[in-house]
Amino acid sequence: MTVWIDGSLTALSDAKVSVLDHGLVVGDGVFETLRVYRGVPFAWTRHLARLRTSADGLGLELPDISELRRAADAVLRANALTEARLRITVTGGVAPPGSGRGHGPPSAFILAFPIEPAAASVDVVIAPWTRNERGALVGLKTISYAANVRALAYARDKGAGEAVFANTKGNLCEATGSNVFLVRDGVLCTPPASAGCLLGVTRALLLELGKKSRIPTEERDVPIDELAPSDEAFLSSTTREVQPIACVDGGRLRNVGGPVSERLAAAFRDLVAKDLDP
Ligand SMILES: Cc1ncc(COP(=O)(O)O)c(C=O)c1O
Repeated sequence: MTVWIDGSLTALSDAKVSVLDHGLVVGDGVFETLRVYRGVPFAWTRHLARLRTSADGLGLELPDISELRRAADAVLRANALTEARLRITVTGGVAPPGSGRGHGPPSAFILAFPIEPAAASVDVVIAPWTRNERGALVGLKTISYAANVRALAYARDKGAGEAVFANTKGNLCEATGSNVFLVRDGVLCTPPASAGCLLGVTRALLLELGKKSRIPTEERDVPIDELAPSDEAFLSSTTREVQPIACVDGGRLRNVGGPVSERLAAAFRDLVAKDLDP
């Protein structure tokens, strides 16, 4: 496998970051995961805009975006990948141990992996921990993911595929690596940014597709207890696309992969077929 690191293509075994890298030591870094369809990173413009927002939020310098694009294309070519998951990571670079950032340049690397289609549906559990909707990192896609690692392991221990977080107010926030939508009385709804969720690229595209398809759509606070009794619910993310939720804490939803989920999944597939940078 070939990766790009700090300006060069390198074999994975030779790609190294310092043990003083601030990303490694304190989780100071940002990232994006993109889905590659037909050799092209999907929604590049939106993902790179979010990478910029995340980097600005942490006060991190980003490499030139056109250099990142050339590097991403080179990694895909070098690994002969056309359907893939592409990850761009930028960290604070080498720094003294502790929370203060150093003066060195950031570290940047790009990796690509083959991807399998996501499962047709997923069981979720409600995480016993909360997201803090007023936390310093809200809305930023940082590499500080240990809380997600912990919650996903909790879900897997219970035989589920994702863990869903409420926020400190008891409202639905998001899952460890995906946004959550539910349908109630024909209305599609998902939590707003103020609930503390990451504003997913897939989430934004689905909200736009929902409006175009004249599905009544709301961004509103949803008490976490409304998830299990909803008519339909699904996760959205770059790698899951639209993935119906089958069970919440062991209880089966009324309509798994119901009509609204299916319409949106189809609209998303059509979008990918027509436009790789919507
Ligand atoms: C915490 C979190 N929320 C939501 C998402 C979904 O975002 P996107 O649709 O941009 O993949 C992700 C994606 O990785 C995530 O990590």
